Amino acid sequence: RRFRASVQDIPTTPTSPRRSADHEPAGESFTNATDADPALPEVREWAGRLVSASPAPLTSPVLGSVAAVDEVVARGRDAQPAWASTPAAERAAVLRRAADELEARRGALITQMVHEGGKTIDQADPEVSEAIDFARYYADRALELEGGASLHADGARFTPDVLTLVTPPWNFPVAIPIGGVLAALAAGSAVVIKPAHPVPGCTEIAMAALHAAGVPADVAQVVRADEREVGRALVAHEGVDSVILTGAAETAEMFMSWRRGRPGGARVLGETSGKNALVITPAADYDLAVADLVKSAFGHAGQKCSAASLVILVGSAGRSERLRRQLVDAVRSLRVGWPTDLTTTMGPVIEPPTGKLERSLTVLEPGETWLVEPRQLDDTGRLWSPGLKDDVAPGSFFHLTEAFGPVLGIMYAKDLDEAVALQNATAYGLTGGLHSLDEAEIDRWLETVEVGNAYVNRHITGAIVRRQSFGGWKSSSVGPGAKAGGPNYVAQLGTWAPDGVPA
Ligand code: SER
Repeated sequence: RRFRASVQDIPTTPTSPRRSADHEPAGESFTNATDADPALPEVREWAGRLVSASPAPLTSPVLGSVAAVDEVVARGRDAQPAWASTPAAERAAVLRRAADELEARRGALITQMVHEGGKTIDQADPEVSEAIDFARYYADRALELEGGASLHADGARFTPDVLTLVTPPWNFPVAIPIGGVLAALAAGSAVVIKPAHPVPGCTEIAMAALHAAGVPADVAQVVRADEREVGRALVAHEGVDSVILTGAAETAEMFMSWRRGRPGGARVLGETSGKNALVITPAADYDLAVADLVKSAFGHAGQKCSAASLVILVGSAGRSERLRRQLVDAVRSLRVGWPTDLTTTMGPVIEPPTGKLERSLTVLEPGETWLVEPRQLDDTGRLWSPGLKDDVAPGSFFHLTEAFGPVLGIMYAKDLDEAVALQNATAYGLTGGLHSLDEAEIDRWLETVEVGNAYVNRHITGAIVRRQSFGGWKSSSVGPGAKAGGPNYVAQLGTWAPDGVPA
């Protein structure tokens, strides 16, 4: 057995075209980590102030008609040429200032995420850091793109999209929306963002940071559209060149169908669902593996596309009573509550579970048993204790279906190849993890697992900008597939043409 020096140095796997092949070394300033140690009195005092502060009132307009959509699109398109012709150095400087303005609003952003999104501070704080990382990282990409020749050896010229629409999810209401907006701005595109329905205030505060940094109001507009027909008009609008979607695979399909047949193609850049597994072999450090697994499965109550919802135990790891006891104890030790209570380690789900999540939390499929049975804890229907189900069968509902909530299933494999086959059997390919200290196992797993973000001896959520660019393959991705926070993401938001030929 040999131990890899630093697990953080192992990059996202570079073996598939869907994976970014060009990882820079770990950046000094890029980290989602929070350095706020919750044990320190001053941090507790800071956290107490944040959770007791009032959320901000909503400010963005609600579009009530298709005509209102037309106006917003026209305003963005009219504003774009001036932004695109602003030298990249100036646009990059605006994005860097945006990073500082986001930092200045860290407290307000966390308060809003606590109240609107049900996020605990330990989840909300690194999310602000991620948004800041996106601002600095995409500022550099804007510089690279200027002149259009730098990314294409053949000298192809880049013409930015005139207008990008960003439709983010509710589970990361700051980093994902603002990451999309910043990428579009770095490309030279104008952007309209429609925040996710339950969490618009988070996105509004972050957008205010961008405007304070010097992004003109019409270049980056934030609008709400609650009626389905209005939302559809926005997504399908012929004046919207690209749509950045993060959401369910079903939503991506719907968006594609609305936009199919357009002259430039549907141009939906989607990061969608996942059904992610972490594999533990007998060569793992079980203490580390359990800590990373619980973090991956129950962070933000499992409501992450990147979350682990399966653990696959290989060979004798599956027969280890010690590992099983550690896992059960770790799941039971989560303290479920509202994020305004600072002792909470797992917060609520966004709404009372229905559909796939309800089935995952309340139904045992054939052969399954509960090691820890989830329970609804109050009348809101949003507080659920975490669930751990044993003996999930290959090909079953829970093996193949995204749950998006606080429930983890155990599967067993006789060897690593069988574990990878179980891992690869789902339609998705977003994140995956391996805990093993055996170099040959690590290499074999990295060669065979079909996921966009493959993590070794690390939790499988919380990708770090530049170090672990984020995105999936198979049904976890729609569009060209360059990953967020990675080198080619901004360059997707436009068209490339040989020099001298109009794009
Ligand atoms: N980027 C997030 C993560 O890595 C998910 O969207 O967890």
